[in-house]
Amino acid sequence: MDSYIIRPELPTDAAAIFEVHLQAFAQDGESRLVNALREDGNINPDLSLVAVHDGRIIGHILFCRIAIISGTVETAALALAPLGVHQDYQCRGIGAALIETGLEECRRLGHRIVIVVGHPGYYPRFGFTAAKESGISAPFPCPDDAFMALPLRPGALDGIGGTVRYPVAFDTVGAHTS
Ligand SMILES: CC(C)(COP(=O)(O)OP(=O)(O)OC[C@H]1O[C@@H](n2cnc3c(N)ncnc32)[C@H](O)[C@@H]1OP(=O)(O)O)[C@@H](O)C(=O)NCCC(=O)NCCS
Repeated sequence: MDSYIIRPELPTDAAAIFEVHLQAFAQDGESRLVNALREDGNINPDLSLVAVHDGRIIGHILFCRIAIISGTVETAALALAPLGVHQDYQCRGIGAALIETGLEECRRLGHRIVIVVGHPGYYPRFGFTAAKESGISAPFPCPDDAFMALPLRPGALDGIGGTVRYPVAFDTVGAHTS
């Protein structure tokens, strides 16, 4: 499917972004997470991308700032969460396009590491591997293969290690998955 565009979110997109996650996930946790992050000032529009088809938002991906904590050392990283594509448009490459465009933008902005909690059958195709292999752990119970990390530059995961700290909005809505 090629008749869609991917662009940064606009202030007027908030309601449609809420709706697309509600529809994709069939629950409102991810939608409320995005709103809570926005209210807390944790959304950079350049890293909040929408897929638009015929003027309608059919997909959304967000990357927000997190930290990997090891003792007194904090390493800046991004969480990919959430990612949702409207059910009528799934499995047409839109999720992949949002991920690839988003990762390109993350690199352009100088970010080094992306963490995702997601399906181990989907994210490895974009280069994600189990975060545990790099000594990075989740602050909540999570299967090892679902908690993944991606270095945006060669060596970005070398010598990092630690536990991820998410923005408080993730606790409020209980959503960590992409
Ligand atoms: C997951 C999601 C974002 C993928 O976007 P998409 O545009 O449908 O996916 P793409 O067209 O890029 O890729 C299709 C592939 O994703 C797989 N896929 C779709 N949904 C999936 C899911 N929930 N878990 C694992 N794999 C999934 C398809 O089986 C297909 O695999 P294949 O290429 O090996 O055949 C989208 O299906 C979605 O919004 N699902 C509901 C929300 C959700 O479950 N999000 C959690 C993501 S782990």
